[in-house]
Amino acid sequence: MQYDVTVIGSGPGGYVAAIRCAQLGLRTAIIERYAALGGTCLNVGCIPSKALLDSSEHYHNAQHTFKTHGIELKDLKVNLPQMIRRKNEVVLDNVKGVEFLMKKNKIDVYHGHGSFVHKNRIRITGEGNAVQEIDTQKVIIATGSKPIVPAAFNYDKKRVITSTEALNIEKVPGSMLIIGGGVIGLELGSVYARLGTEVHVVEYLDRIIPTMDGDCSRELSKSLKKLGMQFYLRHAVTEVKPGKTKVKVVAKSRDDESKMLNFEVDYCLVAIGRRPYTDNLGLENAGIATDEKGRIPVNDHLETSVPGIYAIGDVVRGAMLAHKAEEEGVFVAETIAGQKPHIHYHLIPGVVYTWPEVAAVGYTEEELKEKGVPFKAGKFPFRALGRARASMDLDGMVKILAHKDTDEILGVHIVGARAADMIAEGVALMEFRASAEDAARMSHAHPTYTEAFREAALAATANRPLHV
Ligand code: FAD
Ligand code: NAI
Repeated sequence: MQYDVTVIGSGPGGYVAAIRCAQLGLRTAIIERYAALGGTCLNVGCIPSKALLDSSEHYHNAQHTFKTHGIELKDLKVNLPQMIRRKNEVVLDNVKGVEFLMKKNKIDVYHGHGSFVHKNRIRITGEGNAVQEIDTQKVIIATGSKPIVPAAFNYDKKRVITSTEALNIEKVPGSMLIIGGGVIGLELGSVYARLGTEVHVVEYLDRIIPTMDGDCSRELSKSLKKLGMQFYLRHAVTEVKPGKTKVKVVAKSRDDESKMLNFEVDYCLVAIGRRPYTDNLGLENAGIATDEKGRIPVNDHLETSVPGIYAIGDVVRGAMLAHKAEEEGVFVAETIAGQKPHIHYHLIPGVVYTWPEVAAVGYTEEELKEKGVPFKAGKFPFRALGRARASMDLDGMVKILAHKDTDEILGVHIVGARAADMIAEGVALMEFRASAEDAARMSHAHPTYTEAFREAALAATANRPLHV
C-alpha cells in the first residue's frame, strides 16, 4: 500500500495530524500498537485522570460542603470499583470518538507496532507477530512518552506504581507516598486524598509545581495542605522496597543528609516526569538519532534530520501536553501540504487540575526577574468575589504580569475555581498583544469568576482594583 503520509502513534498529536492530513487531501495511514486509539491522553492520561478528579471532587464536596449548602446525606460512601467503571466508560466513549473520526476522514488504521524498514517503508508487527509493510512518502512520528522510573525504585506495578496503575486501584488505599510534586503527583494525590487516603509527597526541589509561578505554588500548597496532603520538600528518595502488602520508602533531606524520613505505605507512586518513547521504532534504519534525553531532534518545521520525516508531541522538545501535541500535528500536516503555519509556543497554557485549579500562560514572575524585564504585577483574590462566596470556592487568586512601560500583558497565573477554563482569556489577550488596561476595560459578566481577571488587570495597569 502506498500513502502520502503515515502517522506512527494515535495520541492527540498523531490522530489530529492524521485528520488534518486527510482534510488537506493527503492519502493517510495511522499506526497504533494498542487496540485502543487515543494514546496516553485518552487511555491513561488526561481523560481518565480528569474523570477520577471529577468523581472524587463530588465525593469530597458531599462530605465537606453539602451540609453547609443545606443538603444532608446519610451513609455516604465511596464505591471505587464503580468510580473506575465510569472512568473506563468515559475513556471508551472517547476512543470510539477517535475511531469514528478516522473512518469519517477515510484514514486507514493499522493496529500493531510500527518500525522503519527504511525512510519510506514502515513495518507493522501485529497480533501473533503478523507482519505487513506499507510504503509512504512522508512519516510523522508521534510515539509519545512513558513514565520515568529509575531501576532503584523497584517498579513492580503492584505496590510501586506509576500514573497508569494509579488510575486503576480498586480499593481506597490507607496511605500513599508520591515521589514528585509535579502535575501527576498533585492531580492523582488529590484524587486519593479526597477519597480518604493519607497522602505524602516527597519533592526534590524547594516547592511543588516548581516550573510554575511561585505564587501559584504557594497558593496551591496551602489548599492541598487543607485537604490533608503532606509535603516533604528538598528531599531525595533513596530507597523504595516493595513487599506483599506494603512498601517501605526512605527519603533524605538534601540540606542535612543525616535527617532521614522512613515511610511504610500501601502504595508508592512514582511521578518524576516522562521520557520520550522510541523503543523498537527502528529509527536507525531511517538514519535518525535521538538526543541525550531520548528525544527526536527536529528543526523549526518539526522535520527531523531526514527530509520528509517529521516528529511531534511528547517525543520532541517542549512541554509534554496534549494540546501542544495537537498544535504540532496540525502544523506538520499543513507544512506537508505546502502551507506556512505557525505555533506560538510561548502562549501554550499549562493547567493543573487540582482543586483549586492552577492555570498559566506566558512568563512567570521568576522568569521576568531573571530576564531583567521591568514589570508590574496585579493580583486579585477570589475571596473578594461575590461569585466565589456564593459557591464557597474562596481559595486562590488571579495574577497578571504586565510590562512596566508598555502595559502589555506578559503572563497570567490563576489559582482558583475554573482556572482551567478562564486561562483562555489570558491566551486570547496575549495572542493579540493586549495591554492590562485593555483587559481592565472589557466588560466581564457579573457574577462570574472572570471578574477576578478584570480586577487583577485593573491592579496591574493602575493599581486600582475596585473590590479590595
Ligand atoms: P501519546 O499520547 O503518548 O501517544 C503516543 C501513541 O503512540 C501511543 O498510543 C503509543 O501506543 C503509540 N506508539 C508508540 N510507539 C509506537 C510504535 N512504534 N508503533 C505504533 N504505535 C506506537 N496533558 C494535557 O495537556 N492535559 C492533561 O490534563 C494531561 N493529563 C495527563 C495525565 C496523566 C496521568 C498523564 C500520564 C499525562 C497527561 N497529560 C496531559 C500529558 C498528555 O497525555 C501527553 O502530553 C499527550 O498524550 C502526548 O501526546 P502524543 O500524541 O505526543 O503521545
Ligand atoms: P513533572 O515534570 O510535572 O513533575 C515531576 C516532579 O518530580 C518535579 O517537581 C520534579 O522536581 C520532581 N522530581 C524529579 N525527580 C525527583 C526525585 N528523584 N525525587 C523527588 N522529586 C523528583 O512530571 P509528572 O508529574 O511525572 O508529569 C509528566 C508530564 O505529564 C508532565 O510534563 C506534564 O506536562 C504531563 N502532565 C500534564 C498534566 C496536565 O496538563 N494537567 C497532568 C499530568 C501530566
